[in-house]
Amino acid sequence: MKSVLLSRLWSAAITNQGAPVDSRGGCGTVREILGGRRVHMPILNRLVSYYETRGIGISAGLNPLRHANAPYVAFTWFIRDGESLTGGLGISLQEIYFLECLFDRYRPKSIFIIGNSWGWSTLGLSLINPQARVVAIDSGHDQNSLEGLDFTNRVAHEEKLNLTVVKASSPHDVSGVIAKEFGGPIDFAFIDGYHTEHQVGLDFAAVRPSAAADAVYLFHDVLEFKLAPAIARAAASVDLPWFTLESTTSGMGILFDPARQPDVAQAITPFRASDAAKPIMDREVYKAKHRHRLKWRRSFDKRVGRLKILLMGKTPVRTVSNTPRR
Ligand SMILES: C[S@@+](CC[C@H](N)C(=O)[O-])C[C@H]1O[C@@H](n2cnc3c(N)ncnc32)[C@H](O)[C@@H]1O
Repeated sequence: MKSVLLSRLWSAAITNQGAPVDSRGGCGTVREILGGRRVHMPILNRLVSYYETRGIGISAGLNPLRHANAPYVAFTWFIRDGESLTGGLGISLQEIYFLECLFDRYRPKSIFIIGNSWGWSTLGLSLINPQARVVAIDSGHDQNSLEGLDFTNRVAHEEKLNLTVVKASSPHDVSGVIAKEFGGPIDFAFIDGYHTEHQVGLDFAAVRPSAAADAVYLFHDVLEFKLAPAIARAAASVDLPWFTLESTTSGMGILFDPARQPDVAQAITPFRASDAAKPIMDREVYKAKHRHRLKWRRSFDKRVGRLKILLMGKTPVRTVSNTPRR
């Protein structure tokens, strides 16, 4: 009974129907019933159903190790009539989970996105943040992305989500769209448009003047597309730190003021590689890359050992080491 009630409340809350929305924009009834505690419910099934009920299949989160190391299988594909709809793939399942963790306690009221494609991250961000107004832009650069824009707006309308996608291009249209759609500064920006250092620098420079002083900027594909120098320059321009999120599939980057956003600082910690883990992982990578050489080396050492016994009657001292020889 309780779970049925919760499910109804949640459904009403995330579609902004039925459940009263409190003054902070959150789902007041849900908070009240659970004694002020926020309900944690994954959004994935609902997000996938937005596509599947409208004839679009989803493939998300496949493991590249089982697919000839093809990196893109981990991201989200949109499939219709046996064909992939676009090269503008959606963020990965792990990244959806990251967003759920990020917005667990940090609750922005205005979210701006560059790069909508078929709306996967836009709809996901809206479901995770029912308290927020979400606006995305897309220039129509990628294959079928304008159809994706119409699709996302249709879903938003039918599911009563507080989100809009606008056909517009960064950097030129950014300030105009934000002024028109929000009428004030934005709290959170997700930058996932054209992945070059130059363009990402332009994207940030275009968003920053229309963002609140304590805004949080999340960049997709930073490690995957080697965008770190651009993010470092953006961070330096506003004198703020930025962090790579090594445990997100694309290697996201996030730029914000930890003193003003302690909840964000806490939420990102599990998605960063620890200093202790880095050298251990580096050794694993070395072993994986040089496994033939290491195998050959072990075999060579063994033969030399046997030869020494034969020639000098010596027993070789066996050493066990997990440090690869370079
Ligand atoms: C990787 S896809 C975005 C994926 C989306 N964030 C998701 O998770 O589903 C990149 C999108 O950015 C759009 N784009 C590229 N350059 C742009 C620009 N300068 N301004 C706005 N959109 C742009 C492309 O048309 C494409 O649809």
